[in-house]
Amino acid sequence: MGTAMSMKTRTIGNRTVSAIGLGGMPMSIEGRPDRDRSLATIHASLDAGVTLIDTADAYHLHADEVGHNESLIAEALQSWGGDASQVLVATKGGHLRPGDGSWTIDSSPKHLREACEASLKRLGVDAIGLYQLHRPDVSGVPYEESVGAIGQLLDEGKIQMAGISNANPEQIRLAQKVLGGRLVSVQNQYSPSYRSSEPELRLCDEMGIAFLPWSPLGGISKAGELGSTFAPFQEVADAHGVSPQQVTLAWMLATSPVVIPIPGSSRPETARDSAAAVELELTADELQRLSTTG
Ligand SMILES: NC(=O)c1ccc[n+]([C@@H]2O[C@H](COP(=O)([O-])OP(=O)(O)OC[C@H]3O[C@@H](n4cnc5c(N)ncnc54)[C@H](OP(=O)(O)O)[C@@H]3O)[C@@H](O)[C@H]2O)c1
Repeated sequence: MGTAMSMKTRTIGNRTVSAIGLGGMPMSIEGRPDRDRSLATIHASLDAGVTLIDTADAYHLHADEVGHNESLIAEALQSWGGDASQVLVATKGGHLRPGDGSWTIDSSPKHLREACEASLKRLGVDAIGLYQLHRPDVSGVPYEESVGAIGQLLDEGKIQMAGISNANPEQIRLAQKVLGGRLVSVQNQYSPSYRSSEPELRLCDEMGIAFLPWSPLGGISKAGELGSTFAPFQEVADAHGVSPQQVTLAWMLATSPVVIPIPGSSRPETARDSAAAVELELTADELQRLSTTG
């Protein structure tokens, strides 16, 4: 199926994955498409050679549909004609959506354990490929306790690899210590409009840990305006005859070999366009120009 053989790859822990992943969030929260379009989007991405899909139990809209996005991904993988065993599904625990549009946090060990058990069932696997602590707790649960709970899930074989999200450099170092060197990924916000995660990106590069930029195109509502907001990205895109979104992803890949962007999609067209960014080679001059834009 597709062009999986030619897809450029990167590494998360001991797994080889496509250099660009698929973010599942737009298919399950406000503004989401219907189920058929979501399944077509995931299949388009897989057909293009994508072998990393990012999700979370909290990617849902109504209170009674926790894990909406995980269930969609499980269904899409089951109905896909290719080899789904090569696909790494990265999910997260620690966020909740009570159904009023808000996002709340519970990163207590008790909640993380329950959340992981529920994600295992929805994904229909014996062990989750990559489980990420979605966000540090704000209600007094020490960070080392949240990360410690993830470490226990690793020890028990309920998850194969452990990652963290929305972490600062101090938390990255702490998580690596608590996990005894088994931290494989950090997922932070990073895009032309949001550069403040550069210290975390550099630290991951030094530590040899995968860095997964979230909202790499500026987020669901802003992604379409990327070219008009950041003229150099549009100009480089015009020079190559591609989209400014593709240029953004190619530029990001060039910043470090540990970077694996996870652009979200709710349409097959955008999923294919983003996956094709692995083939786009930018010149040193172009990269320099883009690095100073934003
Ligand atoms: N860890 C966290 O706290 C956290 C927070 C936010 C997001 N995330 C993860 O990061 C992923 C990505 O972030 P995001 O979805 O918020 O924002 P994003 O990737 O910056 O933008 C997503 C939007 O970009 C559009 N798009 C994608 N590729 C495109 C292309 N090649 N050309 C034109 N438009 C394109 C899509 O449009 P269409 O809808 O039209 O396809 C989609 O709605 C999420 O899906 C989620 O998995 C994690």
